[in-house]
Amino acid sequence: MKYNLVEMYVDDEIINAAVEVIKSKRYIKGPQARAFEEEFANYIGVKKAVSTSSGTTALWLIYDALGIKNGAEFIAPSHTFIATVTPAMHMGAKPIFADIDEETYTIDVDDAKRKITPKTKAIVAVHLYGHPADIKPLKELAEDKGLYLIEDCAQAHGALYYGKKVGTFGDAAAFSFFPSKVITVGGDGGMAVTNNEEIGELISILHDQGRREKYTHEYLGYNFRMSEILAAIGRVQLQHLEEWLNRRNEVARLYNELLEDVVLVPKTKEWARHAYYVYTIRARERDKLREHLKERGIATGLYYPIPVHLQPAITKLVPPVKLPVTEKIVDEILSLPMHPFLSEEDVQFIADKVKEFYR
Ligand SMILES: Cc1ncc(COP(=O)(O)O)c(C=O)c1O
Repeated sequence: MKYNLVEMYVDDEIINAAVEVIKSKRYIKGPQARAFEEEFANYIGVKKAVSTSSGTTALWLIYDALGIKNGAEFIAPSHTFIATVTPAMHMGAKPIFADIDEETYTIDVDDAKRKITPKTKAIVAVHLYGHPADIKPLKELAEDKGLYLIEDCAQAHGALYYGKKVGTFGDAAAFSFFPSKVITVGGDGGMAVTNNEEIGELISILHDQGRREKYTHEYLGYNFRMSEILAAIGRVQLQHLEEWLNRRNEVARLYNELLEDVVLVPKTKEWARHAYYVYTIRARERDKLREHLKERGIATGLYYPIPVHLQPAITKLVPPVKLPVTEKIVDEILSLPMHPFLSEEDVQFIADKVKEFYR
C-alpha cells in the first residue's frame, strides 16, 4: 500500500536506546521501566504508573486490584476492542454492555445509568478513537452509586477533557503501547495509572508475581512486566507525543475540510482535545468505498466491524442485548490513514479518491 493506515516512527535515538539496553544486559526490572513509569506519570499528571506487558494486562491488573471479579458486574461499551472486557471476564466478572453516543462513539451515560444493578461494581469509560468519553457525568454517576470508574485510555494518550489529561479522572486507567498506537514501545506494552496510592501499590505488587520483595509472595500475582528494551523505546516516543498530537489534529482538520460534504466526518466536542489515534468517517456503501481505496493504494481499517456483544466468544457467555446505535454504526464506519507523517498532499490525495468514489 502506498498509504498505510498507521506508521511507526523509528530514528537513530530509538535504535540507540534499544541497543544500549541490549549492551547493558539488564533486561527486566531495571532503570528504563522505572524511568518510563515516572516520566509517563508526570506527563499524564498521576501519582503512580506501573509499566506492563500490554494494555490488556494493564486492564487485568486494574480489574484485579479493584475487585472486578467473582460475579461482579461492570458496565462497558460494546463498541470497543474486546480486551476492554475480557480480562475481568477471565476472573469471573460479568460485562453489562451499554450503547454509545452517536457523535463521540463513547459510552452513553444515560444507558450506563439504566443498566446499574445491585451487583454493579464499576463503569468503564473507553476514550475510543482518541476522543474522550464524557467523564464528568460518568464520575458523578459512579460517585453517586458507589462504583469505581475505570478509564480505558488505550487509544487516547494525551487526549484532554476540559484541559485535563484522560487517565486522571477514574480510580485507575490503562494505556496501550501496541505498535499502531499514538505512541508505542515497538512491541506489546502498556501502563496502568492511578492517583490512589494504595491501588497503585497493589497493581505494582500484582504485576510482579504478587510480591513486594523477592522471596515473599503476598498475593496471587502475575508476570505482567515490561521489558527494559521496550521501556527505553517508549521513553523516546513519549518525548514526541505532544508534537505528534498537534500534527494528528492538523491532519484531521484538513481531512474534515476536504470531506465534510461527502461523508460524515468525526466531531470533536468543544471540551475535548482529540488524540486522533484513528480518523473514522461514516460512509455510504462503506465496503465498496473501501475496495475503491484499496485499488488506489490506500489502506483503511474497521474499528470495529463486529461489536463486542456480538462476538462468538461473548455470546456464549453473556445474554443477548440490543444496542441500536452501536449496531447501526458498525456497518458505516471506516478509518482512513492517520499518523503524524502524512503530508498535506497525502491527505489531499486520499480525500480526492474518496470524493472520486461518490462522483
Ligand atoms: C480500547 C482498547 N482497549 C484495550 C486494548 C488492549 O491493548 P493491547 O493490545 O496493548 O493489549 C486496545 C488495543 O489494542 C484497545 O484499543
